[in-house]
Amino acid sequence: MDRSLIPLSYLQPTETQIRGQVTNTFLSKQLVAAGICLTDEHLLQGCFPNAEFPVIPGHEGAGIVESIGEGVTSVKPGEKVIPLCHPQCGECSFCLNPESNYCLKSHFTEPQNLLPDKTTRFTCKGKQIHHFLWVSTFAEYTVVPEYAVAKIDPAAPLDKVCLLGCGFSTGYGAAINTAKVKPGSTCAIFGLGGVGLSVVMGCKAAGASRIIAVDINKDKFAKAKQLGATDCINPRDCQKPIQEVLTEMTGQGVDYSFEAIGLKETMIAALASCNMNTGICVMIGELDAGSEISLDPMLLLTGRAWKGILVGGWKTRDCMPKLVSSYLEKKFNSDLLITHTLPFAKVNEGFELLRAGKSIRSVLLF
Ligand code: APR
Ligand code: ZN
Ligand code: ZN
Repeated sequence: MDRSLIPLSYLQPTETQIRGQVTNTFLSKQLVAAGICLTDEHLLQGCFPNAEFPVIPGHEGAGIVESIGEGVTSVKPGEKVIPLCHPQCGECSFCLNPESNYCLKSHFTEPQNLLPDKTTRFTCKGKQIHHFLWVSTFAEYTVVPEYAVAKIDPAAPLDKVCLLGCGFSTGYGAAINTAKVKPGSTCAIFGLGGVGLSVVMGCKAAGASRIIAVDINKDKFAKAKQLGATDCINPRDCQKPIQEVLTEMTGQGVDYSFEAIGLKETMIAALASCNMNTGICVMIGELDAGSEISLDPMLLLTGRAWKGILVGGWKTRDCMPKLVSSYLEKKFNSDLLITHTLPFAKVNEGFELLRAGKSIRSVLLF
C-alpha cells in the first residue's frame, strides 16, 4: 500500500507526525515498531465498532517525532513517543475527573476514522484511506493529534516499549488500577494472550498469592507460569463448567477475575467465578460490535462487581512516560511477551501466528 509521506505544510495545528525509517541504514537506530493485538484482528474481521474501510490498522506502537504542527508544545522533532490509541485531551469532564481515564475524544464518543479536522492523511492510488483510532501504527509515517501522543524517555528501546501502547498496559493496569488486587488474594485470568499474561504480571506485582490462568491452548501455560501463574487450567479438560471448577478450587470463588479474550461465554464464566459477595470481575476483552450479553442478575445481586476498563485505567498521556520509566527501571519485564519480531513486510505472517495461537506478541519493525 502506498502510504503517503506527509509534507510539513500539510500538518494542522496540534498535530504530530511520527516516523520510522524503513530502509535507510543511516537511520537504523530510529526504528518505529508496532505490536499486533487481537483488536487489529477484530478490525480486519469487521467486528470493530465504527471502523471504516479501507483503513490502516495498528494501534500499538512507538516512534520518533518527524515534525509538528503549529501550536504543538509538548513534543519536538526527534523525540521518542508512544502514540495513544486512547487519548487524553486533558480538558473534557472525564479527563478532569481524577478517577477516570476515559477521555471524551475516545473512539466510543468521537469517530477516529478521520483526524479531528475530518481529513485523512493516508491515500492509496488517489483513494482516501481511513485512520484507525487516530494512530494507525502499521505505517511508516502517521499523523496524530497532540493529545494522542506521549513523549517517553529517550533511552527507551522502541522495539520493546511499543507494547506499552496497548497490550501490556491494558492487562497490567486492569490488575493494578481497576481491580486493585490486594496482597494475598486469589485471581483468575481467562485468556493468556499478550493482554491476559500482562494481567498475570499485574496480579503477581500486586502480591496475589494464587493466580489461576485459564486458556484452551495449553501451549500458553509455560509462559503464564514463568510470569507468576500458580495454576493453569484448560476448561476443555474439565468435566464441569470452568466457573464451578474455580469455585471448588477456591472455596467461595476467586477474589478477582479477568476476562481477556472477548467472548460472551467467558465473560459470564469469569463473572460467575469470583466470590459472590466481594468478588470483582474485570472485563477487558472486546466483543464484536452490536453484541449483547444476557446474564442471571443474581450473579450481581449478592455483591459481585462487574467492571469494564480501557487501556488498564491509565490516564494515558500522564502515565505512559511513567510506565516507560518503570520498564527502564526493570519494575516489570514486558519483553517476555514478545515471541516474534518481524519486518513489516511480514505483517500478514504476524496475523497468521496470532490466529494460530503461536505467538503472544509479534513486533513489526519498519
Ligand atoms: N476459553 C479460554 N481461553 C480462550 C478461549 C476460551 N473459550 N478462546 C480463546 N482463548 C484464548 C486463546 O487461546 C488466546 O490465548 O484467549 C487468548 C487470547 O489471546 P490473544 O488472541 O493473543 O488476544 P490479546 O491480544 O491478548 O487480546 C485479548 O483483550 O484488548 C482485548 O481486543 C482484545 O479482546 C481482546 C483481548
Ligand atoms: Zn479528555
Ligand atoms: Zn490492543
